Amino acid sequence: MANKLLNTAKTAKKDEFYTQLSDIENELRHYRPHFNGKTVLCNCDDPRVSNFFKYFAINFEILGLKKLIATCYKNNEPDLFSQNAAEQAVYIIYEGNKNGNKVPDPSEMEVLPLQGDGDFRSQECIELLKQADIVCTNPPFSLFREYVAQLIQYDKKFIIIGNQNALHYSEIFPLIKDDKIWLGYGFKGGATHFISKYEDVATAGDHKEGMIRVSGVIWLTNLEIQKRHEMLILYKTYNPSDYPKYDNYEAINVDKTQDIPVDYYGAMGVPDTFLDKYNPDQFEIIGLGCGDLAKQIGITKNYRGRTDVAYTINGKHTCPYSRIIIRRKK
Ligand SMILES: C[S@@+](CC[C@H](N)C(=O)[O-])C[C@H]1O[C@@H](n2cnc3c(N)ncnc32)[C@H](O)[C@@H]1O
Repeated sequence: MANKLLNTAKTAKKDEFYTQLSDIENELRHYRPHFNGKTVLCNCDDPRVSNFFKYFAINFEILGLKKLIATCYKNNEPDLFSQNAAEQAVYIIYEGNKNGNKVPDPSEMEVLPLQGDGDFRSQECIELLKQADIVCTNPPFSLFREYVAQLIQYDKKFIIIGNQNALHYSEIFPLIKDDKIWLGYGFKGGATHFISKYEDVATAGDHKEGMIRVSGVIWLTNLEIQKRHEMLILYKTYNPSDYPKYDNYEAINVDKTQDIPVDYYGAMGVPDTFLDKYNPDQFEIIGLGCGDLAKQIGITKNYRGRTDVAYTINGKHTCPYSRIIIRRKK
């Protein structure tokens, strides 16, 4: 019971990390033309604290937005970390600067009550989702699967923050494989600081007051970006000793994305970081080389009894950490 409570608390903490304005600006500058004439929804965003809301309100005219909607979640569960349990859940509509001072004023924001707690899955929030062209937020970590599934169900364009681990989810990986969603430009070194009201666990070197450093953070989108059409320059050539074949799947192992051999057109197992360089004109994703999804492409059990790709050199078994199986396109 104590463990369960601790885990719930840990998850609740991760659900309450707030995104820095600079991170939002860095990513969204690549998507500018997409916003012209569009309604943007930030549906996990308390407008009083959300930098997503702030970014779109400040840049409303520059982006040529039609409407900005933000819904604020009030957690009705009396859990350890609910901040504003007693307050009314609201949504806010902003339709641009009206008084000519070029600044979004509170008087220009329409603040409306929500019947429920602002859960993105509630019917009233789904009605707001239906109005939106583009959804942009950092959704709760613990509900990421459901969050993405809902965006796909309602056929919405989106730019959202997630964790690298989500790439392996059975609900997410097939969307990546089928080129329905892809990685955005991302965070420098795959890590960033989020604003957190909980204890700061950032190491001394990268300590930032009131912030928590999180690694393995990604942007996921289904909006067209230049990056996914950039060719990965390959310079290594294939040889059997540097690129051993797996024992339990017909593919070679490649330890680093930049080492993908230029002259190999068979199946290859590459690390997850490949997805950051994935260009669908250059490569095809065959499947996931580890875990439950690996069974789907015929990966059999390895020496550890798991369906992760593995190879043997001079009798030494090796199971590389996490592989995606890809093939070069000719
Ligand atoms: C990771 S935080 C990010 C907040 C904000 N989007 C940002 O980037 O700064 C996720 C937010 O979603 C809210 N949230 C949690 N569960 C939710 C739900 N079911 N529906 C809508 N929002 C939810 C949390 O309260 C939290 O504010």
